[in-house]
Amino acid sequence: MPQIRFPQLKSQIIILIYPFFLSLLGCIPNSPKSVPLAKLERSQQGMVVSAHPLASEAGQLILQKGGNAVDAAVATAFAISVVEPFSAGIGGGGFLLMGTPPENSETQKEYKIQALDFRERSPKAATRDMYLNQEGEVDQRASLDGHLAVGVPGTVAGLYTVHKDYGKLPWSELLQSAIGYARDGFEVSDRFVSRLERRLEVINKNPAAKAAFTKNGQPYQPGDLLIQTDKAQTLETIAENPQSFYTGKIGEAIATDMAANGGLITLEDLKDYTPIWRQPVCGEFRQARVCAMPPPSSGGVHLLQILNIIGETNLPQWGRQNPDTIHLLTEAMGVAYADRSKYLGDPDFVQVPVQELTSRSYAQQVRQEINLEQAKPVTEVQPAAPETLRNYIWESPNTTHLTVVDEERLVISMTYTINGSFGAGVVTAGTGILLNNEMDDFAAAPGVANLYGLVGGEANAIAPKKTPLSSMTPTIVTQDGQLIMATGSPGGSTIITTVLQVVLNVLEYKMDAAQAVSAPRFHHQWLPDKLILETGGFSEATVNELQRRGHNVEMRDGWGNANAIVVTESGVLEAAADPRGEGEAKGE
Ligand code: DON
Repeated sequence: MPQIRFPQLKSQIIILIYPFFLSLLGCIPNSPKSVPLAKLERSQQGMVVSAHPLASEAGQLILQKGGNAVDAAVATAFAISVVEPFSAGIGGGGFLLMGTPPENSETQKEYKIQALDFRERSPKAATRDMYLNQEGEVDQRASLDGHLAVGVPGTVAGLYTVHKDYGKLPWSELLQSAIGYARDGFEVSDRFVSRLERRLEVINKNPAAKAAFTKNGQPYQPGDLLIQTDKAQTLETIAENPQSFYTGKIGEAIATDMAANGGLITLEDLKDYTPIWRQPVCGEFRQARVCAMPPPSSGGVHLLQILNIIGETNLPQWGRQNPDTIHLLTEAMGVAYADRSKYLGDPDFVQVPVQELTSRSYAQQVRQEINLEQAKPVTEVQPAAPETLRNYIWESPNTTHLTVVDEERLVISMTYTINGSFGAGVVTAGTGILLNNEMDDFAAAPGVANLYGLVGGEANAIAPKKTPLSSMTPTIVTQDGQLIMATGSPGGSTIITTVLQVVLNVLEYKMDAAQAVSAPRFHHQWLPDKLILETGGFSEATVNELQRRGHNVEMRDGWGNANAIVVTESGVLEAAADPRGEGEAKGE
């Protein structure tokens, strides 16, 4: 078996700095120790759920005006860019899954699921070793802070692409709520302020970011009104002409600011930016069909891989909080993240063995090798050898999240991001656009961990115009032509396991949407070798038993900020936003 290059010393460093980075970049929400139950919202018609009440309201308004799920998702996404600017926005990128119900059940039996990749791409001038210093070591901050950390943003192009072909209402109408929030201001929350405080030092180094998000370098306080005049103007321009972001005055401002500050993005990079429609990855779990984002996200592949490893195991009989269940899933997670580190990358640059990794026979093999009594030490968990993986053939043809379903049951599940809190901490002067630090999702060097402690290798090395590997997992679950649920979450490396657990909570444990997004979570990602359990969610006996089986258990306060829409048997939409965040569901 090939060994991934992963020196011992590096693994120790990763284990030490990983929680520190997560908290610094604001990916661990300030959630209470024991998570309260989310509020359940019901509607017969349409539903929008996002990470901020004002953004959900923007989408709800569009549904009420006769817009469809695409229109509402676009309006919600632009609003998030204003009211939750630290998490996602027009300076970032993401993925969208769209599910269209069968028009005629005679000719079309299943939902049609399409996946849109509007993730950031590396600039043309990016190089493999761009984050190494003269000693050949990774400069950890260079891919996180400042202009060099920024990937070419895809959000505006992505939203326009899906709207052009599938939207109903005029484009400019969809931006009006966002423009209003930016121009008139909105009250910032505790969550906003805590993230701002953590990134204040970096933000204050960039004059435009400092002007946009601080009061002369001091953080806003909860309840203060944040007015974003430049962003309002930029959104007005995009409302008139979305291309202005790439070929017009906004693009020129970004390129000029980059050139003056050591960034790599040129006007040519912006002009070349193209969203890509991709085939989602879909698989069967029990009677349901689970579809999620394919590479360049690792999310869909590993979600299906873990579901396949669960296989026929009777999880409901085992019980959700049971050590056996947690142990089995943890071992499956370890294998999935080990394979991720070797095989996953931009499919336009490397061959990703999607069919093999999501094949049932490979999963069965992994399942057989899991010792239910003893955790496998991570040093013994290695990515599958290519020659092994080749034996598994496909058996059948086949960092904010928002979910929208309309009256026709058209569904959008969309996760998009600027990566770390407040992205690169850079605002393009005169535009109010906060730029991403998505370049950190590449493997800066083989075996060196990124912000989320994830390691990667050749498949995710930096190259010009390449897309960094993601974990974002927008997901749609259907059965016999009916929608069952749609979900997703932010949370960096924890996204895949969060989405997995929300899906299992609904499909296996028959929870409603509120219970499914509230239930305590656990996470393992192979490296660092830690089984992370949510504080307050697991009994002492369970923790002891997991430790006895060899798991390095660590308790941590809640992570992720999932939301979900679930369709009940009587066809009612039920939705909930993660109580660990401040999101809300709004029915039409
Ligand atoms: O694409 C990814 O996997 C990451 N850039 C997502 C970042 C994220 O979820 C931040 N949340 N805490």
